[in-house]
Amino acid sequence: QDIPQHALTGELPAEPRVTALLNQAHARWAEVTAGEVADYIPALAEADPALFGLSLTEVDGTVHRVGDTAAAFTIQSISKAFVLALVCEAIGHEEVHRIVGVNNTGLPFNSVIALELNDGSPMNPMVNAGAIATTALMPGTSAQEKWWTLHEGLSRFAGRSLELDERVLRSESASNHRNQGIADLLTSYDRLYADPAEMVDVYTRQCSLLVTADDLATMGATLADGGINPVTGERVVTPEVCRDTLSVLAACGMYELSGEWLFEIGLPAKSGVSGGIVAIAPGKGALGAFSPPLDRAGNSVRGQRACAALSRALGLNLF
Ligand code: DON
Repeated sequence: QDIPQHALTGELPAEPRVTALLNQAHARWAEVTAGEVADYIPALAEADPALFGLSLTEVDGTVHRVGDTAAAFTIQSISKAFVLALVCEAIGHEEVHRIVGVNNTGLPFNSVIALELNDGSPMNPMVNAGAIATTALMPGTSAQEKWWTLHEGLSRFAGRSLELDERVLRSESASNHRNQGIADLLTSYDRLYADPAEMVDVYTRQCSLLVTADDLATMGATLADGGINPVTGERVVTPEVCRDTLSVLAACGMYELSGEWLFEIGLPAKSGVSGGIVAIAPGKGALGAFSPPLDRAGNSVRGQRACAALSRALGLNLF
């Protein structure tokens, strides 16, 4: 049976239909071998390109899964979405808008020229410049305190204490000259409100936290559920923060391809270079996908295709 192109209703189907659709999507895209595993962070090059997991957490806490949904990988840029939520909670909508911005750069995630073209504005919290600026806005009077609040906050989204991958952290710390340059450039424009080297370190740590596809689905479902983690029942952020975060993800979460993503898939989402994607259906739940091979913009090839099919088939898409 083929994967349907359009949902008949805007509601999630009941089991066993959901799991059958997840299985179909997994089987179809497991065969695709396109894309390259990221290697600009040396430790990421060792990822197994065959790993592929799909997880869906509903806002009632039900989890559906297929494939390698318990395989751990570093969260990378997906952390930016949840750090933004924590910062929105701490300093509010207006300040995030004023200090970081919410517009797409139309340029790659690690662009330096985007800063120069925009008078030093980091533009949005999803590109590296904006993410480092956002991390600097975390509550805490020292880098250590900011890291603690950030680690604790991301763990509440996941509903468990997230571990740090020390190897990936060391590997990225030894090779992230570009992020150090971006942080120094932000400082030269008076746009970074903490020490640049320390903020790159906290940012690199947040990217090195280990998650699974199941974690991504639950973290995303917390944003879909107005800020309550549907698995633990704990409130992590307010509904207003979810709205702020999801709107930034819709505009900027898939970088310069965010427009195409919204056109094809119709959901706010965030990707990371280790191959994770989280796609969020407000009021319904979230998909967590993991497959390491990436396209040229740095988004998981299988993860994107599976999200596209499932967003329509499950009626998750907003548009
Ligand atoms: O800063 C970096 O380059 C990485 N820690 C994260 C980049 C990333 O995940 C981009 N996303 N697709």
